[in-house]
Amino acid sequence: MQKLNDAKEFIQSKTNLKPKLSFVLGSGLSDLVESINVEISIPYSEIPHFPKSTVVGHAGNLVIGKYNDIDVMLFQGRVHFYEGYSPEEVVFPVRLFKLLGGEDIILTNASGSLEKDWPPGDVMIIKDQLNFSGYNPLIGTNYEELGPRFNDMSEPYSKKISAQLFKACQQAELNTHEGTYIGVSGPSYETPAEIKAFKVLGASAVGMSTVPECIAANHAGLNVGGLSCLTNFASGITDQALSHDEVTETSLATKPKLLTAIGHFLDYYV
Ligand code: HPA
Repeated sequence: MQKLNDAKEFIQSKTNLKPKLSFVLGSGLSDLVESINVEISIPYSEIPHFPKSTVVGHAGNLVIGKYNDIDVMLFQGRVHFYEGYSPEEVVFPVRLFKLLGGEDIILTNASGSLEKDWPPGDVMIIKDQLNFSGYNPLIGTNYEELGPRFNDMSEPYSKKISAQLFKACQQAELNTHEGTYIGVSGPSYETPAEIKAFKVLGASAVGMSTVPECIAANHAGLNVGGLSCLTNFASGITDQALSHDEVTETSLATKPKLLTAIGHFLDYYV
């Protein structure tokens, strides 16, 4: 809590804006910051105790700006458990946003598609999630200031935000689906057998982020939206091997439409 409060005071000393809405921008999606008029961009390395990403394709800035009259906070890049960060570090940005007065958070990510007819370049609005990361970020001391010991997860992704995201993506001419995201630790991509099993469990997209952040956000009483950019077919869905290059290339190619979609979403959001 002390670390979070240090970071909070630092941000408050830099800006008077108090965004209700934030976006966490995943692999190759950092450029979505172009959707807003940037007022301030703070490198993660300057924020006390803030974890900094080591992954190519993940920038590291906390950006605050405006879209028309809406104040927005963007986390340009995130950190992952597979980089060696602790679960508490992974969810630090989500909790910081809450302490700064946040209400709604949109988690974006790049993910693999488990659906044969949802090719790379399509998007999935996350309706529900499966936690296969091997941990829960709330294990350990509970901070009552943030949320209760045993928190409800019966609407992990806000129905209202999900509907707005869906409409916005369709309007941006993205092939838009809705489904369950399964979160794994990585950093290895999955085996074909794992993907087959995940499909039986009901997953349509797989990735290495988002799930812990969604849990911490629900714990803190934030409303969550989830947007997966399907960057590749998951292991074994086609004969092709998986690579991080394919992931970043697809998110880059999908960027123009995603930028448009975020604009539409912000129009619905007000
Ligand atoms: N698996 C796990 N994480 C991912 C994938 C994938 O296929 N694509 C992008 N992130």
